Amino acid sequence: MIETKTNVHLDEMSREEVANYLSETVRPEDGVIPAYIMGDENVNKLEHEKIFMKTWLLLGHESELPNKGDFITRDLAGYSVIVSRGQDGSLRAFYNMCTHRGMKLCRADKGNKGQFTCPYHGFTYKNSGELIGVPLQKDIYGGQLDMEKMSLHNVTLDTYKGLIFGTWNENPEPLLEFLGDFKWYLDIVVGRTEMEVIGPPQKFIVHSQWKIGSDNFVSDSYHTMVTHGSIAKLGMVPNAAYSKKGYQVHVKNGHGCNIGMPNPDFAFPEELIPEYKENLSSDQFELMSNVKNMIGTVFPNLSFLVSHTKVKGKLISNTTLRLWKPIAPDKMEVMTWFLVDKNASEDWKYRSRESYILTFSPSGIFEQDDTEVFTDITQAAAGTLPIVKNFNYNYTMGMHREPVKDFIGPGVVYPDKFTEAGSRNFYSYWLDMMKA
Ligand SMILES: [Fe+2]
Repeated sequence: MIETKTNVHLDEMSREEVANYLSETVRPEDGVIPAYIMGDENVNKLEHEKIFMKTWLLLGHESELPNKGDFITRDLAGYSVIVSRGQDGSLRAFYNMCTHRGMKLCRADKGNKGQFTCPYHGFTYKNSGELIGVPLQKDIYGGQLDMEKMSLHNVTLDTYKGLIFGTWNENPEPLLEFLGDFKWYLDIVVGRTEMEVIGPPQKFIVHSQWKIGSDNFVSDSYHTMVTHGSIAKLGMVPNAAYSKKGYQVHVKNGHGCNIGMPNPDFAFPEELIPEYKENLSSDQFELMSNVKNMIGTVFPNLSFLVSHTKVKGKLISNTTLRLWKPIAPDKMEVMTWFLVDKNASEDWKYRSRESYILTFSPSGIFEQDDTEVFTDITQAAAGTLPIVKNFNYNYTMGMHREPVKDFIGPGVVYPDKFTEAGSRNFYSYWLDMMKA
């Protein structure tokens, strides 16, 4: 392994020099990921510019805004945006800033409004962005104010199977191309039938570097045996090694997932099978029928999980989305959504939510287990200790394996979930973006 330099000071480097240093030291193809990328402020700044300001990021789910006039306010790479369903039924997104003096226009998390009025001077905008009202404008501007030029700033938005993505990139790769072959797997998670978000998404702060979350979901099934060993002891999963069997998949652009298989019992509501068959290809439905869990990450920071657990003696599936939003190198806001098959029975929805709350979400056993680990890794990676600045994590697991050729779905597929191929692919794309 190449040793990194002991006397390197990233804070004294230009952005180009930081990118060059990353090129030299981050070597996913060899399973070498340096610890400093988890704690360094300059890497964090460059990530914001090169990744979070450039790529598609999740804003929410369409079921959060079912009616005309519904809106949500969300964070897009550290900036507040309003996502609104106009009177024409279509979704739009705007930078949440009044075009008069720059005040945050809307301070509510969600609601229903045909118009937004700025709390500073009362400028009023339609939920399609046009400025339509300025108090006393004929008098104080002499009728000269060019209101047409003062619409809200549009934010680029697109959707896929109910997922709402936004980007600050003015010339982004089209969303469908960005997701690429990963759509095949996402369809099972969010497109198998009409899905709805139950309750508002939960938000909580974790003193963790954001990449640890994405990395954990993109390829770390290995930790499940140990970190989540208590789940098996409680009888919620069959045994501690249940997370090994199955496949790990990755596609271009850093996306990837882990598919636990086989599963002898169908954990979704059986009465929805006709809907699933209608929305999925026969191959997708076959995979869905055989999964016991699906865990993955859409680059950079959207992870998902379809998890089957036994609650009160009955196997039940729950589906969740989560964003790992960086606040600082050692701090992120986690935002989680609970999704359920809309046409399932109320009883099924209740039990699915119960299983979600017991396992993930801030009070869930899995979430508590994971965030303890994420926090400690972050703490160990912080600071200026030479040991840390020159330390490389070992990401070589599964490098001896060959991908399978005959898997039912697309992508590069390994016949075992215990491999770090998905992380190597994630960091490889991460590095491409950081160097771009
Ligand atoms: Fe975990």
